Amino acid sequence: MARVTTAGLRFKKANKEKITMLTAYDYSLAAMVDEAGIDVILVGDSLGMVVLGYDSTLPVTMDDMIHHTRAVARGAKNSLIVADMPFLSYHVSIPEAIRNAGRCIQEGGAQAVKLEGGEERVDTIKAILDAQIPVMGHIGLTPQSVHQLGGFKVQGKDLEGANKLIRDARALDAAGVFSIVLECVPAALAARITAEVSCPTIGIGAGPDCDGQVLVINDVLGMYKGHIPKFVKKFANLEPLINAALRAYKEEVERGDFPAAEHCFTISDEVLEKLY
Ligand code: KIV
Repeated sequence: MARVTTAGLRFKKANKEKITMLTAYDYSLAAMVDEAGIDVILVGDSLGMVVLGYDSTLPVTMDDMIHHTRAVARGAKNSLIVADMPFLSYHVSIPEAIRNAGRCIQEGGAQAVKLEGGEERVDTIKAILDAQIPVMGHIGLTPQSVHQLGGFKVQGKDLEGANKLIRDARALDAAGVFSIVLECVPAALAARITAEVSCPTIGIGAGPDCDGQVLVINDVLGMYKGHIPKFVKKFANLEPLINAALRAYKEEVERGDFPAAEHCFTISDEVLEKLY
């Protein structure tokens, strides 16, 4: 199977086929997501919260992103791999943004990058696109702006906020992003944006009318003990299963039941007898 491309995603929008996207941060889960036929794997900076245990995405560094993107790239052969650009990796200057986006591709093995922000990021996005790097936009609740937004809140509920999101989506679309993530946006507004822009929209907490959906894999699998937002659906509840397995392991080791004969390597009596 050939790898999913950005053109393939546009084709899906044109044909009204839904796009699937999930996050992954390591080799093993990336291989499973890939095997399941998910179109896009996002190496999200959400790894700061679900993998590294921070209370926001702000502490995540470029080196963290490269490390995890490389692991995902080793596991996923067919999904399009998008690396999230972390806080401050594209804010300081355009040359620095191009260099960091380039690292995601060259060192990380991603095929595209994602960065947060609307109209105010257009010049940066155009410069990264000029370096031949596909860019996915991200508007609505942009977690790297959590302090400016005053918390993790739904965006675009009032007229001013909704109009700003429409302007942002238009600006990103005109700049040439291959897709836009809409996070925590009222469903009717996301539908309106989706109908208006030429590129596919990928919703997370943005209703059913986006061109595709994305969720954080730890939420989908029920493996995250932190806050679970309203828009998440757990498609499995692995946390109790993992917990039960770990307790069973502890008990069997403590009782001496594990390892059993089938887990052990043998040596011949002849060799044993000749030991000093
Ligand atoms: O970092 C992330 O996982 C994301 C998704 C929530 C879209 O940006």
